Amino acid sequence: LPAIFGLVETVCPYADWSDIRFADGFLGAGSVSLAAKALGFAEVLANDIAQRSAMLGRALVANSTHRITHLNALRLFEQAPAGDTPLIAEHLPEPAATFAIDTFRHFHGGTFEDVDRDLIGTLLMGILLRCFPMGLPAASDATHVAAGDYDRLTGSRLAHYLRTAMRLTTPRSVMQAADLINMAITPGRATVSQADVFVWLPQIDAEVIYVDPPYGRTQAYETAFRLIDEFLRSTPLPSSSFSTATPPLDELLDACNHIPTLVMSMGNAVFNEHELTALVARHRHIERVLSIPYRHFGSVATATKNTANRELLVLATKGRNA
Ligand SMILES: C[S@@+](CC[C@H](N)C(=O)[O-])C[C@H]1O[C@@H](n2cnc3c(N)ncnc32)[C@H](O)[C@@H]1O
Repeated sequence: LPAIFGLVETVCPYADWSDIRFADGFLGAGSVSLAAKALGFAEVLANDIAQRSAMLGRALVANSTHRITHLNALRLFEQAPAGDTPLIAEHLPEPAATFAIDTFRHFHGGTFEDVDRDLIGTLLMGILLRCFPMGLPAASDATHVAAGDYDRLTGSRLAHYLRTAMRLTTPRSVMQAADLINMAITPGRATVSQADVFVWLPQIDAEVIYVDPPYGRTQAYETAFRLIDEFLRSTPLPSSSFSTATPPLDELLDACNHIPTLVMSMGNAVFNEHELTALVARHRHIERVLSIPYRHFGSVATATKNTANRELLVLATKGRNA
């Protein structure tokens, strides 16, 4: 976040931010939009194609006044209405599996409405994700734990599953998680949309655009979060074209043409720093490029991959000679 907003500050002085609209085309878990709102931009315009992100965006970014009350958090532990069972319950040990089933029935059974429902959905998404090591519900060992087949897991992963399943799903820890979510809600103006970025971009009017698409050649969000999307009853989406080996970055930059200042985040799996800079330079003037060494957890990336891994940040503007 300091790198992103530090880059913006080099072309749009902080004193002007209260007159500037900040757009975030790929809201994800909302960290950049939340920071932009707290930093006092005139308006934050945020978007994501996924319902999970749009719900979180309505709860935390567009909403400036509502909080999760302890009473609402505790309603999750009341007798649940009758209903279906979410798939994620088959990937969790007890008591998390029962928690997932009961809360799924409350979430879809009319217990909560409007922004209260978005806040509770955001709370549940956070708790359920943290039940999985590294927050990855697509983990292939999860069903072994749920079936009690513990010998097939490493000790640390098994400990994560069993401990968090108990710790995170008590009334006390759910209320604590709600308090943390409440702390993220700040005053300010923001609107959140759920659309394909190519549909959304032509409709928006902003001075700064931040784009953080899925990185090419990485696991698609639609696969990684399939169980969360099913829990939310989202219509399944095909894998994003941005996750492929040929992400549509030229098309994305074209669609941003009407917005003067752009910051793009990208990994270096498809384009290295020089290739990405050359690609962006075809569309606008390069102001600065940061190449930040970035380590993934040892268990998901080899040492060689971690040495080469970079988080690239490109700041580029319109209206000067490229
Ligand atoms: C790298 S994440 C964004 C992370 C975000 N910056 C944050 O701070 O959490 C990429 C997001 O792009 C979304 N996405 C993928 N394809 C999209 C598309 N065509 N239009 C809009 N959003 C898309 C995914 O749902 C995912 O939430």
